[in-house]
Amino acid sequence: MTTFDPTASLEVRAAQALDFAQEQVRGLITRHPDFFPLYTEEGKWQHGRESWTNWCEGFLGGMMWIFTRRDGDPFWRERAEHYSRLIEERQFDTEVHDLGFVFWSTWKRWFDLTGDPEIQARVIQAGRTMGLRFNEEGKFLRSFVAPESCFIDIMMNVGIIFYAANETHDKDLLRKAREHCLTTRRHLVRGDGSTAHEGIFDLQTGEFLRESTHQGWRADSSWARGLTWALYGFGTAYRFSGDDRFLDAAERCADFYMSRTPGHGVPPNDWEEPSPRLPYESSAAAIAASGLFQLATLARDAERGAAYEAYARTILDTLLTTEFLAVDTPGWEGILKHGSYHERKDLGVDESVMWGEYFFVEALDKLLGAPAAS
Ligand code: GLY
Repeated sequence: MTTFDPTASLEVRAAQALDFAQEQVRGLITRHPDFFPLYTEEGKWQHGRESWTNWCEGFLGGMMWIFTRRDGDPFWRERAEHYSRLIEERQFDTEVHDLGFVFWSTWKRWFDLTGDPEIQARVIQAGRTMGLRFNEEGKFLRSFVAPESCFIDIMMNVGIIFYAANETHDKDLLRKAREHCLTTRRHLVRGDGSTAHEGIFDLQTGEFLRESTHQGWRADSSWARGLTWALYGFGTAYRFSGDDRFLDAAERCADFYMSRTPGHGVPPNDWEEPSPRLPYESSAAAIAASGLFQLATLARDAERGAAYEAYARTILDTLLTTEFLAVDTPGWEGILKHGSYHERKDLGVDESVMWGEYFFVEALDKLLGAPAAS
């Protein structure tokens, strides 16, 4: 059993939470080998309820690569390779808009550790496959639901297209990545820094028709996780392109998040919903923390950068309490409680969610920095 001292410093609690994360992931893969869950049901990963879409298969392996890099444990290294190999064929998957999630967390981390071009080739292929989703009339990457649909979530997957284009000097692929970001910035990021979940386009003319949502309260509201995908994703797009417009979009989303969320740093599922079903959507907070750590390194001035880093620490200070960390919740198989997947479909509501686990572990890894040499 992991020790967790709720009165310890942020860094000590983060290190203890990473130990707990290893314990929970080890428990999951021992109980259910080669199983890729999305969310728990009453704290249990195995339940047979629907996935809606297949986008979470990189997050388990991704956590294993983080554990490997931090501790050099051969157990995690072997499991990380195994869980990455299980999803290798997804590099050719044209059904989803999520190959960034799937390959950036796994094969890209594997490549970063080894520099092996054979490993990198899978990441590049995944980026090229994502590029096939580009609609020339509307200048966006289509979502998995329909050709006329563009999701804000895709901002978190466009980084892998920039990467593939830069590594292969493919100007046309680079154009598609840039144009998708510009279209998203124009139509899905609003003037106040909030975001729409989905944009619907006319396929013949490319005209933007309307906002829509699947997981938020309503079309013109502000679904929290969607905004955090934009906050993080526009930061990544700026990192790969140097285009100031993308930094501006990331900062506007960050400023909206910080001004509209209660002081503890964890938003509800949607900021506009008058009586939210639940007070917290912890996975959005975990994504925001990791995205803000990145934005702190990119921000235009030191004061802004410091504010983003301080806010990321505030979020983690809240998540590193037993209200959120499942460390003293008997029988709970996840790491982080109070995440929600899809309230409208009643899937994974007030549960642990696999992307929440991954981005929480990633944020803790960023907070703690490189492990001390032993
Ligand atoms: N479909 C990605 C998400 O639920 O955030």
